[in-house]
Parts: sequence; C-alpha cells; structure tokens
Amino acid sequence: MELFIDTADVEEIRKAADWGIIDGVTTNPSLMAKAGRTTRDAIAEIISIVDGPISAEVIATESKAMIEEGRALADIHPNIVIKLPLTMDGIKALKWFSSHDIKTNLTLVFSPNQALLAAKCGATYISPFIGRLDDNGHHGMALIEEIRVIFDNYNFSTKILAASIRSPQHVREAALAASDVATVPFKILKDLFFHPLTDKGVETFLNDYKKITAK
Ligand code: G3P
Repeated sequence: MELFIDTADVEEIRKAADWGIIDGVTTNPSLMAKAGRTTRDAIAEIISIVDGPISAEVIATESKAMIEEGRALADIHPNIVIKLPLTMDGIKALKWFSSHDIKTNLTLVFSPNQALLAAKCGATYISPFIGRLDDNGHHGMALIEEIRVIFDNYNFSTKILAASIRSPQHVREAALAASDVATVPFKILKDLFFHPLTDKGVETFLNDYKKITAK
C-alpha cells in the first residue's frame, strides 16, 4: 500500500519525506487554511520536496469553473492531481480531465455507488472518508472493502485512496482491505514506527553488549 501524507504543512512534509516512507501528498482547502497558505503557493513548494502525486483541490463548485481552476493547477507540474468533490458537477469535470489525461482524485466519497461513478468516468483516485463515516456511526472501513470488490469485479484501474485516517489501526485495516493508498496525517505517520517492545528490545541489546565491552 502506498502512503501519502495528508497535510499542507510544508515542514511536516519535509520531515516525513526525510523518513523515506511517503509516496505522495494530499491537501484540501481546510488543510490549506490550517497552514495559512493558498493552494497555488503551497503546491509550488510541495513539488520541490516530494516527487510523487500531489493532490490539489479546486474551490469552484460548478463544472466549468472546476475545469478552469483545475487546468491552471495541473499546469504547475505533471505530478499535480486535481482533487474534485464527488458531486454531479465534480463528475462532469472529471470526464473532461480524464479525456485530457489529467490525473484526478475524487474526494468526499461516502458510498460504493459514488465510487462506481467515479471509476466509470476514469478517476485516477477516489478518496473514501473513513474517519468521518466512523464519526457518524458507520463502519468506515466497510466502505473500502466494498469498493475493493466492485473495482476488482470490473477491473477498474481507479485507485482506492483511504482518507480521513484517524489512527494507526485505520492504516492497518486499510492495508488488510487492499486499499491502494492511505493518506495519513503527520502524527499518525510518525506513530507507525513505534512499538514498546521494539524500544525495550533495543535497550536490552545495548545493555547486554555493554557487558562485553566493559570486560
Ligand atoms: O484529505 C481529506 C481527508 O483526509 C480529511 O480528513 O480528518 O478532515 O476527516 P478529516
């Protein structure tokens, strides 16, 4: 499973890139606001740090305006993936981007049928929001499992990008459900490295070895 970092904070991206574990970046308007950057400005910096797919979301809600905004973002760099909301207008815009070989990420996916529509129209990625479904009393990971079956049934090449990840447990479950990608916030990415028994084991090895050198 590929790991993307879900942030617009350039310092977080720099650190995670240095760990050598990230394959791409996803951003959204809320993450841009949190980082205090405009999408254009942040994206231009992120492409110099990560050589992989970088999702940049449009603000427009009407298909023609989405196309115009997305085209301008796609012109920045070939690694830019245009993130569109899974609305009727988003799907119309998706058709245009697919027919012009521009990569897309259909976001705010909450049902298998929405994922099916996006795959039929040639989306590069779809982003089911696991955490937000859990927050609303559903079992978010079941959505990934159902979309996996549908995409495999019809050999869709659209990649499943598990989003709204809230815990290391979500990452593990997304991998078990054969999600193609998980986009993970900085803190949770960092948590993936650690296990108390690893730390304890390292400490024991070092202490044992010191006994030889002390002789
Ligand atoms: O990038 C989209 C998604 O990961 C948002 O997550 O935590 O705002 O539901 P969250």
